[in-house]
Formats: sequence, C-alpha cells, structure tokens
Amino acid sequence: MTKAGKYMSDIHLEDYTEQYESLKASADTMVFTGGRKSISLNGSWHYAVDQYDTCLRQKWFNERYIDDKGFTLPVDYSFDSWPLMELPSCWNTLEREYLIYDGSMVFTRCFKYDPGQGEKAILRIGAANYICRVFLNGQYIGMHRGGSTPAFFDISEYVREDNRIIIAVDSTRRPEQVPTENTDWFNYGGIYRDIEIIPLPGLYIKDFRVSLLPDDSYHRIRAQLQLSEALDTTAILKLKELGINMSIDVRGGHGELIIEAEPELWSPDSPKLYDVSLSCQGDMVTDKVGFRQISVRGRDILLNGQKVFLRGISCHEESVKGGKALTHEERIENIKLAKELGCNFMRIAHYPHHEDMAMLADEMGMLLWEEIPVYWAIRFDRKATYEDAENQLRELMIRDYNRASVIVWSVGNENADSDERLKFMSSLAECAHKADDTRLVSAACLVDSEKVVIADRLADYLDVIGINEYCGWYTPDFEMLPLLMKNSDPSKPVIITEFGADALSGLHGSIEDKGTEQCQEYVYKKQIEVLKNIDYIGGMTPWILYDFRCPRRTSDIQKYYNRKGLLSEDKSYRKPAFYVLQSFYREMTD
Ligand code: GCU
Repeated sequence: MTKAGKYMSDIHLEDYTEQYESLKASADTMVFTGGRKSISLNGSWHYAVDQYDTCLRQKWFNERYIDDKGFTLPVDYSFDSWPLMELPSCWNTLEREYLIYDGSMVFTRCFKYDPGQGEKAILRIGAANYICRVFLNGQYIGMHRGGSTPAFFDISEYVREDNRIIIAVDSTRRPEQVPTENTDWFNYGGIYRDIEIIPLPGLYIKDFRVSLLPDDSYHRIRAQLQLSEALDTTAILKLKELGINMSIDVRGGHGELIIEAEPELWSPDSPKLYDVSLSCQGDMVTDKVGFRQISVRGRDILLNGQKVFLRGISCHEESVKGGKALTHEERIENIKLAKELGCNFMRIAHYPHHEDMAMLADEMGMLLWEEIPVYWAIRFDRKATYEDAENQLRELMIRDYNRASVIVWSVGNENADSDERLKFMSSLAECAHKADDTRLVSAACLVDSEKVVIADRLADYLDVIGINEYCGWYTPDFEMLPLLMKNSDPSKPVIITEFGADALSGLHGSIEDKGTEQCQEYVYKKQIEVLKNIDYIGGMTPWILYDFRCPRRTSDIQKYYNRKGLLSEDKSYRKPAFYVLQSFYREMTD
C-alpha cells in the first residue's frame, strides 16, 4: 500500500497506540551520564494541542503524503508555523487555557547534529508526564511510560546532520497508570526536565556505582561498573583525594572492586564529596560521591553507625510559576527552607523529583526519602501496572544510586490492604533490596484504626515503617495518637511520614476553627507532645513544607490548593506552625 493508501483508513483505527508500544525506553536502556558532554535540545519547540492523538493516528511524522502519481494529500498539521513553547516546561502554567488540560500535545523542532561526535547518539528526556513517544526524521524511535523518571532512546541509526524531531506527550490520567487518575496533587503535563543528545563511543560505560561497602567498617569503598557490551577488559578508577588509581578487572562487561580507604564520611553536618572518575576503552565518566552508611539496629536508625533522629519535612515538586518544572534556584530555596526549619531530612514526595534535588542535597547536606508514585488505589491486580511501577523504581534507583543524600527508597504511599497490594508492594520492596544493599526500603503504611495499632503486613518487607496519621485533623481527637503509640510495638523503626493540618495563611481563629493558623499550630504542638516521647519513632516528615495545587481541594480556604503547608504556596509567608516545628527540631540539636 502506498503511503497515501493508509491515510483515509486512519480515522477508523481504534487501537492506534498498539503500534507505539514497542521500543520501550526503560531502566534497561539507561546510560550513565556523569561528566559526559551533551547537546541540549532545550529551547523553543513548535507545538500543537492534539486532543484526539491525530499525530499518532495519521502518522504526522511521515510528513508529506505523496502518492505514486505525485498527488500531495492535504495534511492536518503545519509543524513550523505552530506556536512556540519553551521546553522544558509544564504547559499548565504557561498558557491560561492549558491550566487544566490533561491530554496529548505534540512538540517538534529541527536541529543540526554532527554525527561525527560519536559512534552512538542517545536522546535523554529528563521527564515527560506521562507517556512520551519519539519520532526522528520520519522514524518511530520509541516510547516511555512514567511521569517522573528519565527516558533514554538510541537514535544512532537515524540522527543525521539535519533533523526533525517530534515528541508526542500524553498527560492523561488513567486507572491503570502509576499513579492512577486519582491523586492529591496536580497533574502537570509536558516535557518538564532537560532534553539532550549524548554522543557516545561505540563501546561505553553504561553504569557506574561507587559507595561505601555497607559492612560497618567505614573503610571499604565498592566500585561497580557495567559496559554496553559483554566484553573482557580493564577499567581505571581514580579518586585522587584518597590516592586511588586502580584498575578494575572487567569480565563479560561487568566489573567490581573493593578498595581499602579512609574516606571522610558524608553527613548532613559534613557533606564531604569526592571527585571520582572511571575510564575504559576510551570512554570516561565522572561523579561527585559522598561516602556514608545508613542502617537500622533494632528500632534505631543509624547514620555512619550513630543513632540519628530524622528531623524531616515532606515536600512536593512544585512552584507557582513553573508547576513541576522547578528552577535550580527554587530547589536550593526548598532545601534552605528545610534547613531553616532545623531539618536534616526531606521526604520528597510522592514521585521522583528532578535528579538535581539529590545532587543539591549531597552538596548542601540533606538526607532524602525518595518515592515512586504507587499511591492510593493502584491496579494491584494488573501485571502491566506492576511492570510500570517496578520500571519507575529501577529507573529512580539507577539514576540516583551514587547520591549519598538518598537513604530511603519508598515503594508507595497509603495503599489499602489486600493480598494483591501485598504481593505488588512486597515485590517492589524485594526489587529495591536486591538492586541496592546500601539503602533502607520503606513505604507509608497503614494503621488499623479499629484496633488503633500500627498493623500492615507490608511492614515485614520493609526496613523502616512509614506511618501517615492525621490525629487532630482527620480524626477528631488527639487521644488516638498516644493510644496508637502505646498499642503498637514495632520490631523496626517508625517514621511518621505525615501529620498536619490545613491553614490558610493569615486566617486567624480559635484552635477549634479548622483552616486557621491557630488550629494548625495546635495540631503541631499536640502531635509533637506525644511523638517526641516514643522511642521507636526514628523520625518525622510532617505534611508539608508549603501549600501546593490540588484539584480535589475546593473549600473556601483551599480554592484548589492543599493548605497543609508550613509556608504559603509562594513560600513568602511562614505560618505559626513553622516555628513550632522549628523549635522542636532546634531543641533536639541543642
Ligand atoms: C495523605 C496523602 C497526601 C495528601 C495528604 C492530605 O496522607 O499521602 O498526598 O496530600 O494526606 O490529606 O493532605
């Protein structure tokens, strides 16, 4: 059939996405990027709102339909006269008419590239929410599912000097996705993290991991590497400041070396980072790595062998101006605000934040809880949904493995108990434990509100039990909290991953008046009064640093915002509860 032949049949095609399910970007296609040169494709892209996915149905990427008699079919796009949008960005905050648009948008631009830069060329999309499909010079390149982790596509075969790239992004929320269509945060759409091309040699370093060996010795460093091919060779590891310049024997493309060394240990108070490089067969990568060990002993959490209380706060990835597309400066500001609160720990919820967040936390000294959005009522019975969740977890762990600040992988939040949910989330926990022996695995678990006890079968698979409890807010009294603590006797540490209350900045009233600053302040005081005396509470990350956009919240004080922030959504105003938490944390460190 000629190109034109299929044109008219496209309008009857119902399973039009089937043809774009192949060539998935996933954890398996990731490439280590530390220290690599990259060509940015950030900037102005032409775009169109494609509510009916006509790009995919009519295959706009084939561009002009010319039939074998030279007849040019009319087409329904004009790539280079479409309006321009600056990427990375969230379309919701760019144009008023797109604020609540969930659906597909098509982005396109042309770019020049020097194929001589490397035998291979990898396209990296830092994050696109939720599905992105990539076309280059008329060729379907592949797709990625998952709204908060990077996608890597091998474009070596198709990139040339002059190129046209098309990326179709679909932010539609769906019950079978991770998260589902129902969350307590705003669904920003777009390509909202960097887009770049990474030239590579024919044989390259695919993964590179450096950490302290988690053996309580604090003087053994483990370096691991994986090449793009199963080759026997030698790699060179350099860590000048520790006098390390050693070769690593590589067998079948994998290598591992354990080195005796006395690194200065990384901690929030002393965030020491070391420059490290790995070279092999002409390829070289670098990173800045901190050496620390996080572990649990009984009901204590230990950082570098010392008991630590995680003085935390939860935080979404959001700014009034950019939605999920925060600037580097805004991420620095969020960590500084947490430090001002007296925090040594942040729960960056409920999905992987920009990789810059963990790099900044390494540099500025902040421990992190990172999480995949297995949130509320996931389709726990569906294999493809599990594969999506596990892939997002693996992508996050590969992306942030070398980040000393990341101490917890969380496999989810507040999921109703069922056998399917237990199988789904315990499998994720096992996946995390298998892939990484240097971190703790957790989740925000369930409380049995009938028996008023911490009771979640998932806890058996976790190192630390996260608990969200809203005593004094969603439950009328505070009596439940001391009862819950008394009735519970966990065998491992508990982190109170959420407590809090809504308060509209500047709204005053009595402590009974929900939504006032006084009520929120009282909730914090009463919560801390109880929690500070519970020996198995190893930390807390109250909900939340600042107010955030939320389509579920329409009361007169909320107006489409969740107001549990300790600061207003633009972070210009500190509510009184900010100072309650701050004084508690300061008391702990004095
Ligand atoms: C839940 C949930 C949060 C939500 C919060 C709230 O615990 O984990 O995502 O925003 O409660 O009700 O404000």
